Amino acid sequence: MAALSPSARVAVVGAGTMGAGIAQVAAVAGHPVWLYDQSGEAALKAVNLIREQLGRLVEKGKLSSAQAHEVMQRINVVQSLADLAAADLVIEAIVEDLEAKQALLRELERLIQPSCLLATNTSSFSVTAIGAALERPERLAGMHFFNPAPVMALVEIVSGLATSSATAQTLYETAKAWGKKPVHAASSPGFIVNRAARPFYGEALRLLSEKACTPATLDAVIREAGGFRMGPCELMDLIGQDVNFAVTRSIWQAFFHDARYRPSPVQAELVAAGFLGRKSGRGFYDYRAGALPMTPNWAPPEPKPENFTIHGESKAAQAISTRLRVCCASAHPDGRLATVGDAALYLSDGRTATRRAAEMECGNAIVVDLALDYAEAGTLAIACAERCSEAAAKEAIGLLQAAGYRVVRIADVPALIVLRTVAMLINEAADAVNQGVCSAADLDHAMKLGLNYPLGPLAWADALGLDRVVMALRHLAEVYGEERYRISPWLLQRCEARKKCHE
Ligand code: NAI
Repeated sequence: MAALSPSARVAVVGAGTMGAGIAQVAAVAGHPVWLYDQSGEAALKAVNLIREQLGRLVEKGKLSSAQAHEVMQRINVVQSLADLAAADLVIEAIVEDLEAKQALLRELERLIQPSCLLATNTSSFSVTAIGAALERPERLAGMHFFNPAPVMALVEIVSGLATSSATAQTLYETAKAWGKKPVHAASSPGFIVNRAARPFYGEALRLLSEKACTPATLDAVIREAGGFRMGPCELMDLIGQDVNFAVTRSIWQAFFHDARYRPSPVQAELVAAGFLGRKSGRGFYDYRAGALPMTPNWAPPEPKPENFTIHGESKAAQAISTRLRVCCASAHPDGRLATVGDAALYLSDGRTATRRAAEMECGNAIVVDLALDYAEAGTLAIACAERCSEAAAKEAIGLLQAAGYRVVRIADVPALIVLRTVAMLINEAADAVNQGVCSAADLDHAMKLGLNYPLGPLAWADALGLDRVVMALRHLAEVYGEERYRISPWLLQRCEARKKCHE
């Protein structure tokens, strides 16, 4: 299937934040664009906004003023739906209300030509359900743009049960011709990105509910060890606690209350208090004038210990020994990462430090969180066993500080912060692929493009080793005994398959 040709007439209905952006994208790609909004004021505001955006592109030298002028010439505000009768593609970006969307598309269906395609920019409704209102649902697909549409490359092309493959493929190719990076998705709760990102927020809220650390500490670890652009708490404050809570609730409801997606009382309380984040001046952080900044709980500086050994050949051991300018010793029989005085440091495999201590018969067990790249990480989180002495903890902290890390000591929770978050992101990604929402390649692609993740979750799984991911999830499931931490069959299957290959 080929993309629609640039001469094809594209109509955008709903000229709010998304509609304006989508109209700009289509007009820049060369299409004549009709813009309709039930509020004439909104349509004019959108045209002014697009003019401003194009002006910025001209200032940056990305567009000539003649080109900007031509783009504006291609955008026409129309006064009624009947004016869209000759459109080749109508993209609806009206209010997120199922009945309103169904009514609009039904009305459009009466007006448009048989060859016209329909697209919905819904972010939360089933494309199947929207299409059920149509005589010919095969010509409707989701075209889920991200905000701001002219900037964000990702577009999820969402097929409902009745969507024809020709419709989905034409919209896919058209998005590509518009300079976007589309992915195919099956209509399912949250599509790809909104679903696969849930654990990023959910595990943070879970850690906060257990008072494992403060929001500022959590964010610092996720950024500086996990390599994510933003921490979950600051991101939820930016998105709006109410908006993030509503998305979580809608996905949880759509999965018939599957514990994986259960909303958190921590966030419910923030919403109830009106602590909605940046927009209300207060969320996890306090944005009001004069508020004291919240800083991570860095461990105070400790002296560099005199006697220590870094063990084994793991990437962590190599990076830490390089940062300390020492050589690694051979692997320790109990698999530890380092010995310092009486303390034993282990890379987290999901077990708590207290459980490690019991199993290793070494009271001074300390677990070290995952980092995306131990050579580059600025911060590492650790947790100490309940019986670990303060002296041993200080020696461990001194060792990691001597290697140039800022260290945070959090409560002794399973899989700490980064390992837990990444393992659960991988698990969710694996389930989405297992359930046929999208291909593994599209999943990784979407998460990197839509959310700027440093690695796609499934590529991360390969880098970490599937068995390590499965082990972390198993330990989380053992501690909590909850459905939430059940392991995706896709991961288990691949883990088994790789074992067989290596035997
Ligand atoms: P918005 O509130 O900024 O704009 C909606 C526009 O639709 C308004 O101008 C309103 O007057 C108009 N409208 C409402 N009912 C209409 C009707 N029956 N006929 C014609 N015009 C009508 O909303 P926004 O944020 O642009 O969202 C639009 C759609 O895009 C929603 O489905 C939303 O879920 C989805 N979306 C939003 C994203 C975002 O970040 N804002 C991201 C991706 C998707």
